[in-house]
Amino acid sequence: MAVVLITGGAGFIGSALTLRWAREHPSDRVVVLDALTYAGNRISLSSLPEGERFRMVEADIRDEKAVEAVWVDEKPTLVLHLAAESHVDRSILGPMAFTDTNVRGTHVLLEAARRHKTPRFVHISTDEVYGPTPEPGRFDEEAPFRPSSPYAASKAAADLLAQSYVKTYGMDLVITRASNNYGPRQTPEKLIPLMITRARADEQLPVYGDGQHKRDWIYVEDHARGIEAAALKGKAGRAYNLGAGEERTNITIVKTILGHMGKPDTLIRYVTDRPAHDRRYALEVSRARDELGFRAETSLEAGLRDTVKWYVDNGAWVEHVKARQGEFGSSWYADRLKGASTQEKPVTLAGH
Ligand code: NAD
Ligand code: TYD
Repeated sequence: MAVVLITGGAGFIGSALTLRWAREHPSDRVVVLDALTYAGNRISLSSLPEGERFRMVEADIRDEKAVEAVWVDEKPTLVLHLAAESHVDRSILGPMAFTDTNVRGTHVLLEAARRHKTPRFVHISTDEVYGPTPEPGRFDEEAPFRPSSPYAASKAAADLLAQSYVKTYGMDLVITRASNNYGPRQTPEKLIPLMITRARADEQLPVYGDGQHKRDWIYVEDHARGIEAAALKGKAGRAYNLGAGEERTNITIVKTILGHMGKPDTLIRYVTDRPAHDRRYALEVSRARDELGFRAETSLEAGLRDTVKWYVDNGAWVEHVKARQGEFGSSWYADRLKGASTQEKPVTLAGH
């Protein structure tokens, strides 16, 4: 029986992947290792009963003893490492937590996998390691790392550490670098769920800078399938970009959400730009297509409509998660909304 250890399995992408793996691989044992920070929620996995096929371990990836105990107890044959501090805005306000979890936590896991000769390790990285993508063009996996935020830099450091374990110790390790994810169970601090939950409450929608920044959106269920393909078919030592080619400006996303919800554009407020705000991300995904047979299937139109519906239908999940988010949302967005404008022009556009 394969034992699949999913770190960060109670988070947004981790829960989609955990539910998928349990569904698609019924003979595997799935073990989630998650510290249940503000971003991790047991209720996202409430449909999985604990037992022979599933176990939830509440522990911190920085805790070497706890991590060792998981390896001794469970002897994982495959690690899918997603646990991370994941929000760029939080990394601007409190960067040290990002180095601690994303760099040191990743290193603790790599060491456990090395000691125990774990057969396969998949490290979940991000397109943000490449930094902003100039127009036109897309970054492939050989593009240099030019991270802008403390979040992106910590992920770049973790990605490089993972690569070093392939080169130095011959570890069987695959890296995935996905573009921006959206879909059910994402903490409402990231663009799409924030705008949906605020619009539902008729609250102002803070759009950073001129709203013309572009992201390449992938539906979370597609991303989970891409990670699965990388785990099962990826070549050891390879990195794979996972994207859907659904590039949109932020303002287009926000207006589409408002359209689906029947809410007015007057809720939009242009606010002070995020420092070091990457103008564009766009991924070249032919390697994943050719080597993994992976192609994203969900169009942004269909995925966004389903996502809006999910948040509207799952008010109890939203309230539970917002209560755990702490003060971050209210203070950060309230500050940004001070002096905000409804005009389609930037309040500040540092660096662009
Ligand atoms: P998330 O913030 O929703 O979830 C992170 C999970 O990690 C949570 O369950 C949290 O409790 C857990 N965690 C945090 N610190 C921990 C620690 N010290 N020990 C154990 N568990 C800890 O994040 P997400 O959006 O699901 O992202 C998952 C992974 O995918 C991250 O590695 C992220 O960098 C990467 N990624 C995310 C995106 C995106 O758009 N969300 C895109 C590309 C890559
Ligand atoms: P986000 O969801 O935080 O993801 P990332 O920074 O990892 O790309 O932000 C997506 C885009 O939306 C990014 O360009 C910043 C912008 N944004 C806003 O304009 N307003 C907001 O309130 C948030 C959270 C993000």
